[in-house]
Amino acid sequence: MIYARFSHPWLNLLVFGLVLLKTDGLYVGITYVQNAVAKGAVCLDGSPPAYHWDRGFGSGINSWLVHLEGGGWCNNVTACLERKNTHLGSSKKMAEQLPFSGILCNRPQCNPEFYNWNRVKVRYCDGSSFTGDVAAINPATNLHFRGARVWLAVMEDLLAKGMRNAENAILSGCSAGGLASILHCDSFQALLPLGTKVKCLSDAGYFINVKDVSGASHIESYFSQVVATHESAKNLLPSCTSTMRPAMCFFPQYMAQQIQTPLFIINAAYDSWQIRNILAPADADPHGIWEDCKYDIKNCLPSQLMAMQAFRSQFLISLLRIGKSSSRGMFIDSCYAHCQTEMQEFWFMAKSPALNKTRIAKAVGDWFYDRTPFQTIDCPYPCNPTCRNQIYDSEHNLQY
Ligand SMILES: *[C@@H]1O[C@H](CO)[C@@H](O)[C@H](O)[C@H]1NC(C)=O
Ligand SMILES: *[C@@H]1O[C@H](CO)[C@@H](O)[C@H](O)[C@H]1NC(C)=O
Repeated sequence: MIYARFSHPWLNLLVFGLVLLKTDGLYVGITYVQNAVAKGAVCLDGSPPAYHWDRGFGSGINSWLVHLEGGGWCNNVTACLERKNTHLGSSKKMAEQLPFSGILCNRPQCNPEFYNWNRVKVRYCDGSSFTGDVAAINPATNLHFRGARVWLAVMEDLLAKGMRNAENAILSGCSAGGLASILHCDSFQALLPLGTKVKCLSDAGYFINVKDVSGASHIESYFSQVVATHESAKNLLPSCTSTMRPAMCFFPQYMAQQIQTPLFIINAAYDSWQIRNILAPADADPHGIWEDCKYDIKNCLPSQLMAMQAFRSQFLISLLRIGKSSSRGMFIDSCYAHCQTEMQEFWFMAKSPALNKTRIAKAVGDWFYDRTPFQTIDCPYPCNPTCRNQIYDSEHNLQY
């Protein structure tokens, strides 16, 4: 972090304070859904699911934004056992307060369209994008694969807290949560009254099925393992699973066109998670030739940039399969980024990425309120001067 460079303790304190200010100061407490346990709707370790809710006010009192947390998946028992003892597998390990920024911010200056809505961040602790449902629990591992039950139990709790009176509702999410917001989009709409204006927003959830740099189908076999481990097939879209191998229906490119509810896709064409884990996963790069490039796009060799341009072409082909209906929104920038709705820097600041002079927060608002059907795809990297490219440090943590 930046403040670690300052040696004087007071300077540290000052800079640390500024970092806190930047997150806007809004912290929201956790709610555990205790009654979900009786329904078997639990995190990997059997603990209750949880969410953070900041109440709407003023004209937003009957509008609900439900945002699903991301955090990858676990694809086999070993990986799920590792996850079980982290905040991504147990509500016992979750922070009780979370900063709400970007799409979750409560001031018009940082979130012009949704600041006074009810804003909910649903915690992710099942490892299957809320799709798993295995009845049996192996006593040797005590793993609970119950993501789909968690989804329902949390929605029922929110409906009872007032969401059943929603006039406007958005299901959103980032990464694995962005994928879940596509997978559950129509079922979210079905839970709400007929008169509610319901739309879904997927941030960095459009994972594509392409071969990695070694020519292997890495992500396809990984997603197949996720779907098999969590027995997710029965909770994927029937209109997709009836026509192809169920595991394929985890990929938006094979199922998103069947979603009836209006859907907005925010994704970087060079999504940094996808470049790091789909195009050039460690398995496909045994000599670490991709390491420097993966951590900072400025380090990429010309041949690597060419592979990334080819990835973008595949991304756009996969994306266009969802059709160009005016109910579909798209903000496809050419930044090296992953998740752009919760980070204030991406969502709505003076220097946030813009397409056609429009920042993400405005594009989503224009689409939600039917002002314009925003569908814009950026020119190829490095053409967009407003791009914010993420940089990862040697421990693979995100830096700004
Ligand atoms: C489980 O998946 C991980 C990747 O998440 C892999 O490294 C490991 O080898 C797999 N383990 C087994 C037993 O298949
Ligand atoms: C850019 O915005 C203008 C005015 O809002 C609109 O007419 C035009 O179609 C947009 N162009 C693209 C590529 O989205």
